[in-house]
Amino acid sequence: MNKQSVVFTTKTEETEQCGANLASMMMQSQELPRFVALYGDLGVGKTAFVRGFTSVISPTAIVRSPTFALVNEYRAKPLSVFHFDMYRIESEDDLISIGYDDYLMRNGICLVEWSEKIPYAIPDEYVKVLIEKDDLSREYSRKITTEIVTEDL
Ligand SMILES: Nc1ncnc2c1ncn2[C@@H]1O[C@H](COP(=O)(O)OP(=O)(O)O)[C@@H](O)[C@H]1O
Ligand SMILES: [Mg+2]
Repeated sequence: MNKQSVVFTTKTEETEQCGANLASMMMQSQELPRFVALYGDLGVGKTAFVRGFTSVISPTAIVRSPTFALVNEYRAKPLSVFHFDMYRIESEDDLISIGYDDYLMRNGICLVEWSEKIPYAIPDEYVKVLIEKDDLSREYSRKITTEIVTEDL
């Protein structure tokens, strides 16, 4: 993957495919960070991206927004997927109460919706995924920007 890549999608399935592509790359490369920080407004397609991603790693998982649970676990071998939604996180105490730090150390990949809410808790190395509605006159159009953030940049 390039340091930064921009993809345009026009339907939900293409955003899911973007997630699936990232998951395939992460399964092949040991070097990519195992943390995906998702950014973008309500209804833009973050959960759709996670659904596609998870379909590669845990094909039988049913991916839904964890807005109320805050975190959903999709157990799989060799790696599980930990799917967070930080929309309702108000403080570091909230993160502690869901055992956030423990998840970071477990053998799995974390995907975090609403990473905007927890800038202080994003690891030094992560994959950044920004999803935007790029053209308001085209309801289904999305712009997805992916970037691997490493400490030495
Ligand atoms: N190109 C697209 N990519 C992703 N979702 C899309 C796209 N076009 C339309 N949608 C719709 O937008 C909504 C995205 O919902 P969701 O993934 O739950 O968003 P979020 O998790 O960001 O709040 C879904 O209803 C989906 O069908
Ligand atoms: Mg969501």
